[in-house]
Amino acid sequence: MSEVTVRKSDGLSRRDFLKLIGAAGTGLAFAPFVPFGNFMPNPNQASLERVPVMLDGDGNPTQANVNTFPVNHSEVITYPATGDPALDAEAFRKWQLIRLPVEMGGERNDVSAFRAFSMICLHLWCLWKYWPDDNRKRGECPCHGTMYNPDTGVAFIGPASVQAAPSNTLPKLTLDMDADGLLYVMPPKFTANDNGVIGYGRFA
Ligand code: FES
Repeated sequence: MSEVTVRKSDGLSRRDFLKLIGAAGTGLAFAPFVPFGNFMPNPNQASLERVPVMLDGDGNPTQANVNTFPVNHSEVITYPATGDPALDAEAFRKWQLIRLPVEMGGERNDVSAFRAFSMICLHLWCLWKYWPDDNRKRGECPCHGTMYNPDTGVAFIGPASVQAAPSNTLPKLTLDMDADGLLYVMPPKFTANDNGVIGYGRFA
């Protein structure tokens, strides 16, 4: 009697498990078609006009300028900024503004020397940072070691590098510059075919 009960319980568990696996598989199969942008905090709040790229400056904000921003250097910027400290602290608003190293064109005195990539790693959403200090200048995620090319935003080592496009390439902001060298963010389109979708990726 008790043996029958155990078998019945086993059978139900297996079926439930298989159902769960099936549901998970269906979810993954449709992942590329999910409008990830709808779940992100910022796409609908992005500005329709270009906005200044502001650097924190240790509590004394200044606008980033091509004439003063060091080569092979990065700063964290917030986009879109709201002025509300709680909202502006959200990870999905954080970008690495990078002035490329010399070997990637960082000495050019124009906007082409700069990149701005979402800091959300495309693997499991940790925050990566730029490492300027050794031969392999790169963005690197502390969680599982994904490395990103600072020129293109493409993952070249680690778990995000083996994800299918667009989830191997970081979203980026389009930058602009005025006659005084001041940097701006142009109005983005947060779709995979344009500036990318934060946390999901961009078709390079
Ligand atoms: S979250 Fe970045 S490598 Fe896993």
